[in-house]
Amino acid sequence: CYTPDLIHQFEVENKTVVVIDILRATSCMVAGLGSGIQSITPVATIEECEALGKQGYIMAGERGGEKVEQFHIGNSPFDYMKPELKGKKVATTTTNGTHAIELSKNAKEVVIGSFLNLNALVSHMMKSENDVLLFCAGWKGRYNLEDTLFAGAVCNALKQNAELESDSALCAFFLYQSMATDLAYYINRSNHAARLSKFNVKEDIEYCARLNEFNVVPKLIGSELTV
Ligand code: MLT
Repeated sequence: CYTPDLIHQFEVENKTVVVIDILRATSCMVAGLGSGIQSITPVATIEECEALGKQGYIMAGERGGEKVEQFHIGNSPFDYMKPELKGKKVATTTTNGTHAIELSKNAKEVVIGSFLNLNALVSHMMKSENDVLLFCAGWKGRYNLEDTLFAGAVCNALKQNAELESDSALCAFFLYQSMATDLAYYINRSNHAARLSKFNVKEDIEYCARLNEFNVVPKLIGSELTV
């Protein structure tokens, strides 16, 4: 369970990295690929997204939580689940989530985690021989509640079969144990939920706290996320 400023300290080449950005990048990726989007290409800059837009990609994403004006969609899971996106290729750039994916690119395997695909992700991890690094995207290099809460949910699901090696994993596990009874309640009190409240996307926050809406595990193949 590491934040961007720490990931470079870990040899990810032999690990499965689970990228976590609950509000809302990885929740969107799971919801979109689980609803029929053909692929999602995470990119670092607005310019890269626009270049793919010229090739027919749907341009998606946000900065500071607000939709990038010239993009087709923002970063709401409800945008990604629109029927008209079925079969389409999407290019996305976000404040933290796509940056975390970029930092993970040398990993043996990069997969996407959210509450929406928790059980599917845990099943995938149980079949893997790799050590796993749960990468919490956080907010601009800082810790955030919702990503660590999800990492704790993963640790809780795996604890019978895996060693929680680090104190950060143990802390995430105990955080989840203390909040599991009402995830939406606690996520609604996070810093990012407060930032997003300015953009009137309360339903996004509620949705991103739902469990197991999709049975997919997006995986990075080359530069594209697919299922
Ligand atoms: C992020 O990258 O932190 C999220 O995408 C931000 C958001 O969607 O509000």
